[in-house]
Amino acid sequence: MLPEQADILWTFVTIIFTLFSLFVFANVIQHCRSREGTNTVLWGSVFGAGFIVNLMMTNHMFDLNQQEQLGFISNQVLAVFLTLLIWGLFFKSENIESQSPPLIRAAFFYSTISILLAGYTNWLPQQRSDPPPKPQAIDASSLTMDIYVGMGETIVFGKERVAGSKAIGKGQCPLCHTFDAGDNIGRCPNLFGVEERSHTRIKEDRYLNDPIKIGEKDGATGIIKGKPDQVPEEYRRADASELTGEDYLRESLMCPSCYVVKGYGKAGDTKSPMPVINKPPISLGPVEFNAVMAWLQAKDTPGDFANVTIPLPTGEAPKKEEEEEGDAPVFVTGAEPIDEMINTLGCPLCHTIPGIEGAVGELGPKLHEKINAPNRIKDPNYKGKAKTGRDYVRESILNPNAYIVFNEAEGEPYPEGVMPADFANKISVSGLDKLVDFISNTQPEG
Ligand code: HEC
Ligand code: HEC
Repeated sequence: MLPEQADILWTFVTIIFTLFSLFVFANVIQHCRSREGTNTVLWGSVFGAGFIVNLMMTNHMFDLNQQEQLGFISNQVLAVFLTLLIWGLFFKSENIESQSPPLIRAAFFYSTISILLAGYTNWLPQQRSDPPPKPQAIDASSLTMDIYVGMGETIVFGKERVAGSKAIGKGQCPLCHTFDAGDNIGRCPNLFGVEERSHTRIKEDRYLNDPIKIGEKDGATGIIKGKPDQVPEEYRRADASELTGEDYLRESLMCPSCYVVKGYGKAGDTKSPMPVINKPPISLGPVEFNAVMAWLQAKDTPGDFANVTIPLPTGEAPKKEEEEEGDAPVFVTGAEPIDEMINTLGCPLCHTIPGIEGAVGELGPKLHEKINAPNRIKDPNYKGKAKTGRDYVRESILNPNAYIVFNEAEGEPYPEGVMPADFANKISVSGLDKLVDFISNTQPEG
C-alpha cells in the first residue's frame, strides 16, 4: 500500500497562509506600539488568535491526503479572508491612512484570487490525481499472505479506499455487494460471512440440484458444476479431488449461474445477474482472481489467515500489468470513445445496452431509452423533474432513485439503491452530455 499522499500545491499554500497571518500579527503589534491610545492587548489577541488558528490549520493539513486537503483548504481561505477583513477594520479604526488603501486593495485582490482558485478546484470534478505509484515488483518468493490478501482487497476496493465510502476497484464487487454485517443494499447478497457459508452451501439440496445438477455443464460459461478437477487449468486447485468451500467461492465467481443465492436471481432464481469475474468486462487474470479469493476467505477475521486455503502464487511473479490496472479512481473526461466511457463507468455490469459490445448486464432495465425515457415521464407515478427524454436519462444517471423503474418481467419494481448514486463524481460535465446523448438514443437492435 502506498502511503496517502498530500498535495504539494496545497501544502505550499497553507504554509504561506500561516506566514502571512504571522506577518499581519507583527504589523499590527508594531502599529500599536508606535501609537498612543491603541488597545494593544485587544488587537494583539485578535490577530494572535488569527495566527494560532492558521497555524493549527496548517498543522492539520499535514495530516490529510490530497483529496481531504482539497476539501479543507477552503476553511483556511476563509480564515485568511477574515484576518484580512479585520486587518482592514483595524486600519480604518486607527486612521492609518498611509498604509491602508494600497495594502487593503492588494489584500482583497489576493483573497479574491484565492477564493476563486479554491472554488474552481472544488468545482472541478476531482480529477487531479497522484503520480502513478511505482510498479511494485512483487517477488513471488517474498510474497506473504498478508500482502496477497491486501492485493485482493485493492482489486475489490481500489487504492483509494477511505473508511465508510463506497470505493470501487477493478473487480467492481462493491458496485453490487456489501461486506459488513447488516449492511444490505438490495438485490445482491451481503458477502459478510461468505467464507463460513461456502462450506455449508455445497451440502445444501439446492446446491446439489438447482438450477443445474452437479456434473452438468452451465450453458453460459461451459463450467461443469461441482467438479473442481474440471475447472480450466489456470484456475484449477492443485489437489482438486473433493469439493470444498474454496471451490464454491471459485465457482461463484467463474459460473454465477451454477448456483443462485435464493431471492437474488432472475427467472425464478435460475439465472444470476452477476458478471463472470474472469471474463470481460471485469476480466481478472488468475493471480488477481486468486488474490480476491484469498481476501474473501480472510476478510471476516482481520489479521488471521487461518481460513485461507488459496496457496500463494508460485513460480512466476505476478505480471506487472495485472498489478497496475485499476489503481486510479474511476473518472471519464468525455474525450474517450463512448464504449470506453461506458465500460469504465461499469454500466454494462448491470445494463444491456444496444450498440455496446458485451453490455449484457441484467441487474437493471435494458436501456432502450429512445422509447422508454419519454414513456417514463408520462407515468402518473413519475415524480422527477424531467420534461424531455434527455432530461430523464440525465436524471436517471445523476439521481437514480428519482424514479424506480418497474420490472414487467418479474412483476415488481427494480431494487432501489442498487444503481450507484455517485456518477456525478466520476464524469466531467462534457462527458455527461456525451453519455446522455448516447443513452437517450438507445433502442432495440434490428
Ligand atoms: C452486477 C452486480 C455484481 C457484481 C459486480 C458482483 N456480484 Fe457477486 N453476486 C451478485 C448477485 C446478484 C449474486 C447473487 C446471485 C448468485 O448467487 O449468483 C452474487 C453472488 C455472489 C457470491 C455468492 C454469495 C453467497 O452467499 O453464496 C459471491 C461469493 C460473490 N457474488 C462475489 C463477488 C465478488 C468477489 C465480486 C467482485 C470480483 C462480485 N461478486 C461482483 C452480483 C454481483
Ligand atoms: C450496480 C448496478 C447498476 C449500474 C452500475 C448502473 N445502473 Fe443504471 N440502473 C440500475 C437499476 C437497478 C435500475 C432500475 C432502478 C431505478 O430505476 O433506479 C437502473 C436504471 C437506469 C436507468 C433508467 C432506465 C429506464 O428505462 O427508465 C438509466 C437510464 C440508467 N440506469 C443508466 C445507467 C448508466 C448510464 C450507467 C453507467 C453510467 C448505469 N445506469 C449504471 C442498476 C445499475
